[in-house]
Amino acid sequence: MKTRTPVFVTYPIPDPGLPTLRSAFKVTVFRGRAAPTADEIVAGAEACPGMLVLVRDRVDAALLARLPALRAIANYGVGVDNIDVAEATRRGVMVTNTPDVLTEATADLTWALLLAVARRVGEGERMMRAGAFTGWTPDMLRGADLQGSTLGLVGFGRIARAVARRAAGFRMRVIHHARSEHPEAAAAVESRPVSLDQLLGEADFVSLHVPLTPATTHLIDAAALRQMKPTAHLINTARGAVVDEAALVAALRDGLIGGAGLDVYEREPAMADGLAELENVVLLPHLGSATVGTRAAMSRMAAGNLVMALSGQRPTHLVNPEVLVGGAAGG
Ligand code: DGY
Repeated sequence: MKTRTPVFVTYPIPDPGLPTLRSAFKVTVFRGRAAPTADEIVAGAEACPGMLVLVRDRVDAALLARLPALRAIANYGVGVDNIDVAEATRRGVMVTNTPDVLTEATADLTWALLLAVARRVGEGERMMRAGAFTGWTPDMLRGADLQGSTLGLVGFGRIARAVARRAAGFRMRVIHHARSEHPEAAAAVESRPVSLDQLLGEADFVSLHVPLTPATTHLIDAAALRQMKPTAHLINTARGAVVDEAALVAALRDGLIGGAGLDVYEREPAMADGLAELENVVLLPHLGSATVGTRAAMSRMAAGNLVMALSGQRPTHLVNPEVLVGGAAGG
């Protein structure tokens, strides 16, 4: 009997990914709730040509060096900043991700945060739970108007555009800053391209939609926060380290900006000191793609990517296609 190819999965992901993988491979699933350590990954994946990981799992050069049998890593998520893709490529390891399927869910959650910070939903909720609502008054928890305000999108990829589409319903003006021009996409959502400085100075809501790279790490630092209006709100559903979180705490505390809605954190799952004590922030635990349908679609896509990668096909969502040049991978 032919031995089945072993693959390691770092979390019991929702259906249908695991049954798909089990029909093709001998699957070992890590059962801990917390992210596996490097030693735990090596223990499970040492002999495996394939591995499926979550965005919280760090696959750095040191770990890759300990996994010589590895040929493909399927990331359960679109952002691949948790993986040293350059080193994977150098070692002939394919890296795949799950784009598109989470765009709408993440755009929805961006709006959930934007509305929550604008209309002080968190403060109102806490007031009710504390039994502190003593009756309607005209000046209680007044928030920011959306109509006529300006939404500034940093980055203009799939998720940013889906966020922009929703802005029309709120009658907001949309501006964006991106590395390259996207005239057709911009026209479709009536968004105006501007410089980052302009965006920070003009936007009432600054929403981040860039991948985490060396160039975007701390893109929103103390200086950038100082450029924002004192009434403006920052929304981050991208990656925590795009923002200097300690500088953000200081800016929120000193009233340099009006508020923030965060789904992601610089040292996730930890938060910067002082953040949780602030009233003018809404804090969510990385829920961007957390809907039943989206998580199932991500599961299907991640598993499908791994099946293709290990069966000699080019995976549909290959992040490092250069790995195939010269037939380095997939052998
Ligand atoms: C991603 O996919 O990168 C998200 O952060 C998790 O859905």
